[in-house]
Order: sequence, then structure tokens, then C-alpha cells
Amino acid sequence: MTERSAKAGIGASITGWGKCMPPSVLSNHDLEQLVDTTDEWITTRTGIKERRISHVEVSDLAKVASLHALAAAGRAPGDLDLIILATCTGDSIIPSTAAVLQAKLQAWNAAAFDLNAACSGFIYSLVVATNMIKAGTHRTVLVVGAEKLHYHLDFTDRSTCVLFGDGAGAVLVEATDQPIGVLASEIGMDGSAAEILWTPRDGTAGDRDFPRPTECGIRMDGPEVFRRAVTTMGDASVRVIKAAGLELEDVDLLIPHQANVRIIDATARRLGLDPGKVFINIASYGNTSAATIPVALAEAVEEGRVQPGDDIVFAAFGAGLSWGAAVLRWGDRVEPVSVSEAALPPPDRTTMEMLQPNIDFFGQGAGQRP
Ligand code: ACO
Repeated sequence: MTERSAKAGIGASITGWGKCMPPSVLSNHDLEQLVDTTDEWITTRTGIKERRISHVEVSDLAKVASLHALAAAGRAPGDLDLIILATCTGDSIIPSTAAVLQAKLQAWNAAAFDLNAACSGFIYSLVVATNMIKAGTHRTVLVVGAEKLHYHLDFTDRSTCVLFGDGAGAVLVEATDQPIGVLASEIGMDGSAAEILWTPRDGTAGDRDFPRPTECGIRMDGPEVFRRAVTTMGDASVRVIKAAGLELEDVDLLIPHQANVRIIDATARRLGLDPGKVFINIASYGNTSAATIPVALAEAVEEGRVQPGDDIVFAAFGAGLSWGAAVLRWGDRVEPVSVSEAALPPPDRTTMEMLQPNIDFFGQGAGQRP
């Protein structure tokens, strides 16, 4: 047994939190100029008012969020021994975006890998980090959710392009001998239903010679995703609360994946949870996939919605179809140890200029084989 594995049995707690939301805003009124939609439809059907469009890569968003999380924990990049980056919109296939992030942070002591479980990616990654720390192989793990979803959006498809946005959130997970951190968790997958929400031709299964715009980008059966998200997130939350030995009344805060405010409301109703205990910020950012929960957690801590010893429930559902839920007991510190000045460079283009390549690509129409 190595010295590291001899430390099995310890816990894993969140000690730092941070976010990076790119500054360029795309409002519902802006979208009215692009597709046949209205601010009223988007607001009432989804709860979204605006979303952010990134002028930089996922690794850049992840770097800034990570530096805030490290500062909040009072740690330096050199303290990390593992980086897990949850994303489905990485900078490139090879190397992993986690590798790019490691270099940008100069976190030379850290192993690093990407984890793609789409919108459930942060919970999957938190569970992996927790279990690696508990196994004793790692002690200081950076878990990041970062996405640049606008790259994959078809701005001629009103049923998808209004839903998503870009951003990043990060947490530091550290070994502890306290009974805190993830108390119970569940991750799951139904791969048989993958085509309900997918990017059909954006991988090696696609057709390299004859890209057909209507078959690229994010495609989904919205109402079916909606139905499955409500039942799965609600039921998984009930199971992890029970597995943690808690009652519903013990839950201090639910931080759900932010896909649609009606999904969130219906999930809370299914649980029977007081709406005042649900954190919602979807109006400002839309669905940022793996980033929604770490961004929401960072904002919840900053807004004083998290108190020492709180029991927080995370729940998510997304492409795969994947899901995850976890109960996390917060530690005794809700103030950051220090604050980072890290920030993105200012955008050099307008929001609409950033969207133009998508508009041009998808505007070509369907199946234009030469
Ligand atoms: N503006 C105006 N009208 C629209 C728009 C739009 N942006 N989008 C769709 N419509 C129209 C449809 O064409 C349809 O018109 P029709 O009745 O003439 O055919 C009508 O609105 C109703 O469409 P539905 O799809 O039935 O609308 P619904 O109330 O289900 O809302 C939505 C659609 C918002 C996509 C909803 O189903 C949803 O949020 N589903 C979850 C999908 C999701 O969040 N996926 C993200 C990834 S998975 C995850 O993170 C959970």
C-alpha cells in the first residue's frame, strides 16, 4: 500500500468557488432580430431573459473561474494534484481542454482530464473528485464546468438557439477529516434515448465531405427532454436525500441545473420543497450546460444563501441522456480566504459579429450537396 492509498477513508469538501461569465450579452430582444420569436415567448416558456456569448475559448473561461476558486480557498495552482474539466464544448479534441487549462494555470503538479456528461457533467465530476479523494489517491482537486455552447447553436432554429449560453464555474475540492462534502450521490445514464438531445454530425460519425447544416448543431425533442428532466431530477433528488439520512425539511438549498425555470419549478413541486429554498439564476445566463451548477453555487455563496453546515442538493439532467444528484454538506467557511483579480480581456467584436459565422453557416440551408 502506498502512502497515498493509506489515507483512504477521509472526506472531501468544497473549499473554494468561482465563476467567469463572458461580458457580451445576447438578450431576448436581440434574438427577435434573428429568429421568429418574442421576448414574451422565451420569458414565459423558459424563464430566460438573456445569455452570455464568449469571445474567448472554453479554457480561458475555465482559467478565470479556476483562479477565483483557488483564491477563495487560499490555494495556488501548484497545490493542485488533479483537474477535472466538465465540458461538451472543449477547445479541441486533442489535447483535452483540461490539458490546456493545466498549462494556462501552470498547475504542473496536476493530472488533468475532460469529462463529458453534458449538462450533468459537473455532478459527475464532483462525484469522481470526491471518490478519488476518499480513495486516497488525490487531495486537492479542481472541478470546473465550462462551456461555449453558442458555437454549436443553429441561429435559424428558434426551438434551440434561445435556450443556451456560455460561461464557467469552478470549485476546489480538498481532503478533510470532517464529516462534510458529498454525503450521498447518484449518477446515471440512458443511452438508448440519446437522439432526444444530440449534435448528430459533429463527430467521426458525421460526413466530413458533405456537411449538411440542418444535421449539425444541437438538435432536441424539447417537450420529451422536459418530461424526462422533471421526473428524473426529482426522483434522483429524493433518493440521495434519503441515502444521506436526511428528511426533505433538512435541505437548506436546492441548486438545480438551470435549463428551464418551468423544469426547476416542476422539480421542486415534485419534491415538495419550499420554493424559497431553490436557487435560480437562469434569467441572466440561460442554460450553460456543465457550468450552470458551479456558477449558481458561486453566486449562492456570494449572496449569503449558503451558511456554515448547510445541506445542499444538486440535481441535473442532460444529453446522454445523463443525470446526477448529490447532497453536499457545506463546511464552516462561507467567506473567501482571498479574492483574485483574474478577468477576461475585453471583447474585440460585438455580440452579433461573434454570431455571424454561425448565422452564415446554418443560413446555407439543408442538404446542399454540390
Ligand atoms: N419562439 C416562439 N415560438 C417557439 C419557439 C420560440 N423560441 N420555440 C418553439 N416555438 C413554438 C413551436 O414551434 C410550437 O409551435 P406550434 O405549436 O405552432 O408547433 C410552440 O412554440 C410550442 O412548442 P413546444 O416545443 O411544444 O413548446 P414547449 O412549451 O415544450 O417549450 C422548450 C419548448 C422551451 C424547448 C421546452 O420544451 C423545454 O425547455 N424543454 C427542455 C429542453 C432543454 O432545456 N434542453 C436543454 C438541454 S437538456 C437539459 O439541460 C435539461
